[in-house]
Amino acid sequence: MGPVAPVAPDDPAAARGVSRRTQSEIYRAGISGTRPRVPVDAVDLERAAEKALSAEAFAYIAGGAGAERTMRANTAAFDRWQVWPRPLRDVSARDLSIDLLGRRRPTPLLLAPLGVMEMAHGEADLAVARAAASLGIPYTLSNQASFPMEQVAAATSTASRLFQLYWSASDELNASLLRRAEASGCDAIVVTLDTHLLGWRTRDLDLAYLPFTRGLGIAQYTSDPVFQQLVRERVRTAPDAAAPAAPAVRLTPKTVAAGVKIARKGAAVTGSRSVRDNLRSPLPRAAVETFLDVFSTPALTWEDLARAREWTTLPIILKGIVHPDDAIRALDVGMDGIWISNHGGRQIDQSVPTLAVLPTIADRVAGRVPIVFDSGVRQGSDAFIALALGATAVAIGRPYAYGLGIAGEEGVREVLRNLLAELDITLGLAGHATFAEVGRDALRAA
Ligand code: FNR
Repeated sequence: MGPVAPVAPDDPAAARGVSRRTQSEIYRAGISGTRPRVPVDAVDLERAAEKALSAEAFAYIAGGAGAERTMRANTAAFDRWQVWPRPLRDVSARDLSIDLLGRRRPTPLLLAPLGVMEMAHGEADLAVARAAASLGIPYTLSNQASFPMEQVAAATSTASRLFQLYWSASDELNASLLRRAEASGCDAIVVTLDTHLLGWRTRDLDLAYLPFTRGLGIAQYTSDPVFQQLVRERVRTAPDAAAPAAPAVRLTPKTVAAGVKIARKGAAVTGSRSVRDNLRSPLPRAAVETFLDVFSTPALTWEDLARAREWTTLPIILKGIVHPDDAIRALDVGMDGIWISNHGGRQIDQSVPTLAVLPTIADRVAGRVPIVFDSGVRQGSDAFIALALGATAVAIGRPYAYGLGIAGEEGVREVLRNLLAELDITLGLAGHATFAEVGRDALRAA
């Protein structure tokens, strides 16, 4: 199918008519025998991505913690709700726009932060950012992205972006990352709270593959002056610490290939483009080891959050809230929004499915701050249900990574456009013209 026509970013009217345009494009292309390259069906989309990606990339993106029961519960939770349609209302002029963080947004969708998208496609975050911008959807750039935030900003300068922080063990590094986010034009900071330890990810463990140990997904760090200083200090004070600690790595063709990859990625810390120089330099290896040391801190508490206020003037949203008491505590400590998420079931096996706790949290928050919702959203109708249960905005995760793996920027755009089209159709068929009208009475408990 031909390229999807871009729309003006952040135009509140941008999403109007998205369902009719999408259906028309798909069915017209079908007349000449062309079917969508990116499957519309969510299960087929995942299967197509599995074919397009390496075993390691697919495992990393699709996998969850333990027996993946949280992941299944996240999607199953949507089956407990039904859309309750009300016909004979004029829904000819539907408007998908919402208010979020002081701005009118064309759609109620956001892109969740997904790290290491270079595993899905070489253009990674640049492709995702462009696709999101073309549909007026704000993009949350991950702390584990594959391109520095300034480069993503340059690719989509006028589009709305948020920066997601993993609170590092180094406060100087946290402050530096937030300074850069503000300077590069982000709208808000999203602090992710549920990854102070890396989840027990069965598929990655069975493949013995963690991208960060190969220098992938650490571009925000290697491009950061504070991090670069930490790396140089490490090499200066303890030259042996640049090498991985025991057990010793066996030298095989795969070890050599991984070493070359780390050396290539090391250009950001050595300042040299020569692979030979970077292979000889201890800095690239030290960058990986430094990252593994400072990536997160399990000692983080509510009291620490106050420091983030000193590091940025941007609004702060807490991601990874699943308990109503924590939502209220976030309000008490002056946070500007909460993001209900269980990290797509990647952290705890048999954890609380997010949709199950959304109504209670929404009741307790009572509109005082916006609520972003994610984990398990696979279709436009899922997004409708989450919005009806009290979410202000709905974040999309894995589906856009699948689109990226299948067809790069265009693949992301098709996935997002399909989600928006189905959301628009669901809104209209349910008998509503705006999300302001959609409350719990738009649903029935199954
Ligand atoms: C994530 N997620 C995530 N979250 C975050 O705060 N920072 C990150 O860097 C990442 N990285 C990441 C990589 C991959 C491959 C996945 C699948 C997820 C979690 C993400 O933001 C979101 O919470 C989940 O993706 C939502 O679940 P579903 O809808 O994708 O199942």
